Amino acid sequence: MFKKGFIFDLDGVIVDTAKYHFLAWKKLANSIGVDFSEVQNEQLKGVSRVRSLEKILEWGNKTLPEDEFMRLMAMKNEDYLTYINTMDASEILPDVSKTLDFLIKKGQAIALGSASKNATPILHKVNLFQKFDAIVDGNDVSKAKPDPEVFLIGAKLLKMNPEDCIVFEDSVAGVQAANIANMISIGIGEDDVLHEADYIFKDFTEMSSQFLEDLISGTIKKQPKNNLSINN
Ligand code: BG6
Ligand code: MG
Repeated sequence: MFKKGFIFDLDGVIVDTAKYHFLAWKKLANSIGVDFSEVQNEQLKGVSRVRSLEKILEWGNKTLPEDEFMRLMAMKNEDYLTYINTMDASEILPDVSKTLDFLIKKGQAIALGSASKNATPILHKVNLFQKFDAIVDGNDVSKAKPDPEVFLIGAKLLKMNPEDCIVFEDSVAGVQAANIANMISIGIGEDDVLHEADYIFKDFTEMSSQFLEDLISGTIKKQPKNNLSINN
């Protein structure tokens, strides 16, 4: 039997929490007099909480003392958690559960690879926690995407070689991390944003079970790429 490691990002792949991150960052940025648009938000997808605030401050040309920086990060997270607390299984993105169940039925190894420190409570909220063989999140890594650390730890926990892993990602940083890890990168979202991915789907409803079968059997391979490097 063929076995691969399937690593799912959380925010924007399993659940549509990207909209809550956007609302919470926008409120925070505006409160310190910094504009914050959807275009900027795209650049924060997959990016750690610390790095996100650093970027917002860079865009607004601001510097803050350490204690104020920490206070703002905590404020953003508190605001974000008010949205998360209302979540339930209805917020799982289309056909995610179906895809997970298909892979489980096929005996595949499944991990979460997320930058979020809130990943475990979110998975419990939407009742998907028990579907994962391994969870790697923002509490387990020291280097943020596009560094491949999160996915390499995931592969290790699944006892799979990186080249036998497949990553589902909605962020540019996450696609780059998967590519650097030498895993098949599958972008979930728009072609123009995720063009560095090996394969791109708008969402899981577009992904056939044949495509998943072909990933499992190895018929579908990684696309050759040049010049992979970390640039954040
Ligand atoms: C990523 C999100 O999954 O997690 C980012 O795409 C977010 O937007 C990052 O900043 C960290 O999440 P959290 O929940 O620890 O603030
Ligand atoms: Mg994401």
